[in-house]
This record gives sequence, structure tokens and C-alpha cells, in this order.
Amino acid sequence: MASHEQEIATFGQNDDFWLFGYGSLIWKPPPHFDQRVPGYIEGYVRRFWQDHRGTPEAPGRVATLIDKAHWETLNDHHGSTERVWGAAYHIPTSRVREVREYLDIREINGYSIQFTPFHPAPFTTSISSPPASPTAFPETLFNHRPSLSIKATTTVFAHPEMIPTGSVRCLVYIGLPENPQFLGPQDPDELARHILKSHGPSGDNKEYLYLLEKSLLELSRDSGDKHVTDLVRRCREFEALENGVIGEEADIEATEHVGVPLHKTGSTEEQEEVER
Ligand code: BEZ
Repeated sequence: MASHEQEIATFGQNDDFWLFGYGSLIWKPPPHFDQRVPGYIEGYVRRFWQDHRGTPEAPGRVATLIDKAHWETLNDHHGSTERVWGAAYHIPTSRVREVREYLDIREINGYSIQFTPFHPAPFTTSISSPPASPTAFPETLFNHRPSLSIKATTTVFAHPEMIPTGSVRCLVYIGLPENPQFLGPQDPDELARHILKSHGPSGDNKEYLYLLEKSLLELSRDSGDKHVTDLVRRCREFEALENGVIGEEADIEATEHVGVPLHKTGSTEEQEEVER
């Protein structure tokens, strides 16, 4: 059995480099990939418990995963969902080195590499036609806006014959409890207020939260995350109250989600600035 370090060094050598995204990677893919498959991993809980540099005086809060067994020892306010939904990207062998360099910034931000089985969503339907060239393929993703009303099947961006039928081992970045930017359990109202007032080079922290919720809901009919949805509801309520909307009206505003288009990062430099 390879050590963790050996696995980090050799992972993906058989054209099987799969990267799992559960945060911004869902809507902001790595610079090169030839398949994007919605699905889930198990044994973790997603939480907005990772401090992100944002502006020094107001570091934002971004998602990390907590090992479920460890999470069960903590005093958390939110329940857990059985699965952590996200998107897995297959990176062509010729691009692995480049993508790994691009991903390194995550480690600087307190995230560590872990490996875990990824389960493609059941009932997947391919909606893409084979790409004319590897670089044309990602554009398919950005030009396509899956409709929120279509939930019976899951959209994937992959050649139908290439969608993995069983689980695949994937690499995932996790802000472990030992890292200095890991915050631990947060009061949900305080967390929502903090997200609302935080801004980073990439924009408002709340946009990260709102985009995460929206992208999750587009993955599958089962892919919502109660922690994320609850935070969105709190943020929308606080925003509505700030805008002078009161009582029932604030509740209605909080549940009316405005769609935001998928965002493509302009450059590696920008990516490094915005990475979360
Ligand atoms: C992601 O899965 O989207 C992600 C995880 C850790 C750092 C940055 C992004």
C-alpha cells in the first residue's frame, strides 16, 4: 500500500487523474479537463468553517470538508447530509502537471490533499457532443446553463462512453482541523453576518455562497446541502432586513434566489487572487 506522499506523487499516472470539487471548483473549473461529471463523495460534511484571506480586516468564510467521524465529536448547529455533492473533473495526462501547479495555491490557503472514492450521479444523461478540440470542450460548460426546472436527470459534460460506471478514486482539497485557517463550529447567524460583510479580490463573499448553492442545485435533484441552503436563507433574510423589508416580506425575499451566470476565471494570476 502506497504511503500518502507516494500517492500524491504518483496519482493519475494511468490517465486516471480525477479531481473532486465541492466549492468554487463546481462553477469555476480547472484550466484543463476533458470530462466533468456530477456526483458525490461520502464520509465528509461540508461546512463554511475555513477562513479565507479576503481583505485582511474581514477574511471571508469558505467551504471545507470535515471528516464525518470527527464532525460527530463536535458541537455543531446544523445536521449533516449523507453525501457531499460536487463535480469531478478528469484531467488529461498531458495537462496534469499544469493543473497541479494551478491547484498548488489551495495548499497555500491551508488545504491538504486527500484521496477518496467519487460516485458519479445515478441517472446521468450526457448533453454534450464530443469536443472539436480539448480546449473547445470547457466552453461547452460555460455556454450551457442547465435549467433549474430539469431535475429528473443529471447533466454531465463528458463523452457518454467515458462516464465512469463505478466509483473512481479522486483527489480532493480539504482544510483539515489542524490548519490555522480552520475555524471549527460557527454560530449560523454570526457566520451569515460575517459572510455578508466580507469581500475579497474576487468579489463579495456572499456571491461565493450564493453561487455554491445554485451550482449544487443544478447538479442533481438530490444534491442540495442543508448547511449551505440554511446559510443562504439567513443571508437573504439579513439583506432583506437591511433593505427595510420586514416580517413575511423578508422571508419571501430570502427564498427568491436570483440566478448568477457561471464564471470563468480570466487568468492564473486572477485565479491565485480569488482562490477559495
Ligand atoms: C473546491 O473543491 O472547490 C475547492 C476546495 C478547496 C479549495 C478550493 C476549492
